[in-house]
Amino acid sequence: MRMVDLIEKKRDGGVLTKEEIEFIIQEYTADRIPDYQMSAFLMTVFYQDMTDEEITALTLAMADSGEQIDLSSINGIKVDKHSTGGVGDTTTLVLAPLVASVGVPVAKMSGRGLGYTGGTLDKLEAIPGFKIELSDQAFIEEVNKNKVAVIGQSGDLAPADKKLYALRDVTATVDSIPLIASSIMSKKIAAGADAIVLDVTTGEGAFMKNLADARRLSHMMVRIGALAKRRTMAVISDMSQPLGAAIGNGLEVIEAIETLQGKGPEDLLEMCYVLGSQMVVLGGKADTLKEARSLLEEAISSGRAFATFKQMVENQGGDASICTSPERLLTASFEVELPAKSSGVVARLIANEVGIAAMMLGAGRKTKEDAIDYGVGLRLHKKVGDSVEKGESLVTIYSNTEHIKEVKELLYKNIVIEEAAVEPPLVHEVITE
Ligand code: URA
Ligand code: CA
Repeated sequence: MRMVDLIEKKRDGGVLTKEEIEFIIQEYTADRIPDYQMSAFLMTVFYQDMTDEEITALTLAMADSGEQIDLSSINGIKVDKHSTGGVGDTTTLVLAPLVASVGVPVAKMSGRGLGYTGGTLDKLEAIPGFKIELSDQAFIEEVNKNKVAVIGQSGDLAPADKKLYALRDVTATVDSIPLIASSIMSKKIAAGADAIVLDVTTGEGAFMKNLADARRLSHMMVRIGALAKRRTMAVISDMSQPLGAAIGNGLEVIEAIETLQGKGPEDLLEMCYVLGSQMVVLGGKADTLKEARSLLEEAISSGRAFATFKQMVENQGGDASICTSPERLLTASFEVELPAKSSGVVARLIANEVGIAAMMLGAGRKTKEDAIDYGVGLRLHKKVGDSVEKGESLVTIYSNTEHIKEVKELLYKNIVIEEAAVEPPLVHEVITE
């Protein structure tokens, strides 16, 4: 087989066989196909799309390109959850201990943030001492003991995806639905869970800017999951405005603690109940979503979910005293309010732009090499649909510099106050197949 012939075949609208796709992934991972040919191939996929069979073959070849984690020594049905990314998306910090506290083992590998999207690993590292690197053995022991561990992706998990993602990033081929679906599902399949709950975000703060694309991506990933014999379902959630109130790493840890104590923002808690109920049903701990939800509600009101979080922090080397004194994470030198310039109702709170404002403060990375400042970020006091009086604070800005003129301007521009507003739904659709 020659790569140039396969590029040409795809360019002209042909359908690649499983063997051809396996050849491309194996040879590229082994550095026997150069980046320039792979770049051309990615662009043909971007324009010509792929059939379900091609995407499944691509996903499985990528999953097979490195280590596949064997979680069979963990008792019970292991359920993984993956979000396609967002702004202020604090769900994993709440959901992992919450679901574990009702008996579903959660062996979760998370990622870092890039650009305006946050990453669970960065948030966990805001907790002093918290270790996100565990050996496979220690990871499995943690989950057997405490039902939950959240760690970074092991180095050799889907190496084809790591190489491809870096190439896509610089060849304008990130936002291709077959490439996103195979990228996400290859990692989930290699990470070894029995069942997968996908949180597919849509809106300004997400990869999928519109509902039709989010729907197509969801269906595709659910189908790939089924073909790989993993029970998979997707929740299409709204990311037109940030989730919850906190954006920024330490601030989101505080928000997660408050939510696990039953005093967090309503939208974040509801999102955790929606995703968590699906996980509990897939994990075999409840027969219906209603039953699953009441288990989760009880876990929060009894303090069990919070206790599981505290235990997870301790087990992974973190300073568990932040659970009782979360205000210790508020280390920024300046707390500045942003007063509303007029009265009315918040009509839009544009997620990606608000995420960029947090990134400018140091809460996120512009490039992979940037360091994160865990103490900075934003706490929103108003969400879409809330009424506001002129002069009332819209946001508290946590900053380590006094020079935040540009951040303020960006926030003013993207928190739009009008006479009336239409509140977006939290969940657009639930897709099972
Ligand atoms: N997240 C991934 O892991 N891969 C993509 O391609 C997009 C989002
Ligand atoms: Ca949040």
